Amino acid sequence: MLGCKWTLRFLVVNGPNLNLLGIREPETYGQLTLKQLNHEIQTYAELKKIRCRFFQSNHEGKIIDFVHRNHKKADGLVLNPGALTHYSYSLRDAIAGTKIPTIEVHLSDIHKREDFRKISVIAPVCIKQISGLGKDSYLRGIDALIEYLTKKING
Ligand code: DQA
Repeated sequence: MLGCKWTLRFLVVNGPNLNLLGIREPETYGQLTLKQLNHEIQTYAELKKIRCRFFQSNHEGKIIDFVHRNHKKADGLVLNPGALTHYSYSLRDAIAGTKIPTIEVHLSDIHKREDFRKISVIAPVCIKQISGLGKDSYLRGIDALIEYLTKKING
């Protein structure tokens, strides 16, 4: 729309332990802090005219509450569920129940790590999973949501 600064609104949510980015296993998760990562995502999203709302929690229920509270005010969700990826049926149900279009992202390549990380109980209710690209997993997640929503709008 002409004169409209924002076109879409995305939630960007990080799960348990992602508040420790920068000090947490940097050889696996990189050097960026969560604040720096979110800043990079924000900068990229602004170029695409996407308004982002960021949230991180170490508590499964708080993430679910956040999705419940905000899904109607958002067009999509870029989600790094952290370890919840591998066992949280309640987070999966929240995504399925709200039907918020979701891209699952991971900094590390979960398919090249321990066996328990290769399984995602969240992925089946997501549009796509992007794993192993570091910070770019989130940026490609934004792109994937835009592509999905554009196709949906244009039919
Ligand atoms: C992670 C991978 C998960 O297995 C792990 O529990 C995390 C981070 C990633 O971004 O690579 O906390 O989601």
